[in-house]
Amino acid sequence: MNALTIFDEIIDRLGTNSVKWDARERIFGSGDVLPLWVADMDLPCPPEVVQAIEARAKHPIYGYPGDNGALFEAAKGWVNRRFGAEVDTDWMVAIPGVVPGIQVAINAFTKPGDKVIIQPPVYPPFFSTSEELGRRIVENPLKRVDGKYVMDFDDLRKKIDQRTKLFVLCSPHNPIGQVWSREDLLQLGEICAEKGIMIIADEIHSDLVYEKGAHTPFYTLSEQLANQSVTFISGSKTFNLAGLFTSIAIIKNRKLRNEFRVTANKMGLNHINLFGIVASTAAYNHGDQWLDELLDYLHENAVMIRHFLSERIPEIKMTIPEATYLAWLDFRELGLYGQELRNFLIREAKVGLNDGFQFGKQGDGFCRMNFGCPRSVLKEALQRIEKAVQVYKHSNH
Ligand SMILES: Cc1ncc(COP(=O)(O)O)c(C=O)c1O
Repeated sequence: MNALTIFDEIIDRLGTNSVKWDARERIFGSGDVLPLWVADMDLPCPPEVVQAIEARAKHPIYGYPGDNGALFEAAKGWVNRRFGAEVDTDWMVAIPGVVPGIQVAINAFTKPGDKVIIQPPVYPPFFSTSEELGRRIVENPLKRVDGKYVMDFDDLRKKIDQRTKLFVLCSPHNPIGQVWSREDLLQLGEICAEKGIMIIADEIHSDLVYEKGAHTPFYTLSEQLANQSVTFISGSKTFNLAGLFTSIAIIKNRKLRNEFRVTANKMGLNHINLFGIVASTAAYNHGDQWLDELLDYLHENAVMIRHFLSERIPEIKMTIPEATYLAWLDFRELGLYGQELRNFLIREAKVGLNDGFQFGKQGDGFCRMNFGCPRSVLKEALQRIEKAVQVYKHSNH
């Protein structure tokens, strides 16, 4: 039996304006589901972050911040320690979120009617941001091979035409939890570079990688690819700071950086939150050991889910993710899909997961489960699913 850690403590989030907990009635039509959906954790952020926020909060004036220098220096040190990456703080642009950042990039680097490539199953705003801005989505679906996914480069080559301008990459990939190898990224980059397509690399999950050194930041691949891409990083998933709305775009190419900045200004997205700056700076400066401990905890959670499923609900398949606190559960052997699967999980199992079909049609029959929570909560969720599956199997035979 392992000793309990700070991550085992159950922290009541009810009444804290948490969308995950307090909006269950609206999202699931039921207030009693155990919520393991939206990607924030039920785990406390690093104590240094709380201390930094408290120290700043003590000063009673919360006027406009004037400078992101400390944040950028902290981020520069972080990517150097975590990935061995050399970046210049001049390459960084602050942005209040990765999704707003993707919107800025789409507006800055494409025109209405242009085509944007994505790789479903993928984070739903990759579809909606482009479509809402009048761009056309081109799907280059990932291929599933023996429970894992691979990029389909032949399909990608075929789908590129004159109107294809942008590739939105998810690295590591949400919801499947895979880390792309350097070779994958180079091959993808080569195809895009050859056709003059810019790459937007969403690396919001890049700190949550279980094998040290496995993640390759896009801007480190080559001089050419660094100059033809925008990479987003953020402490929001890593340190559980999503409500503080603070992210960074890394753009080496000065011309692209200026275009991005001008567009962000036009869209009113050129300011970030004072407390986001304070929190992210503290996290990047002091969060190494905390993150290493978190990763151990999360990985054990993933192993526990996998073990539980194979022992007690073998019809539900899962591959242990290489990154993220998101498990991609395959319910297809139970014959459950779409709305029926959603209703089953909400009404019978009383758990709130993300529907796989929201990540593209390729995700139908799957659900995404957030395991960034105390292990006891996760066990409760799995027991609820086990019970519901037993009843379902009996009533279907
Ligand atoms: C791949 C990916 N990108 C972006 C986001 C959201 O980023 P932000 O809250 O900074 O807009 C998420 C959140 O789950 C995500 O998984």
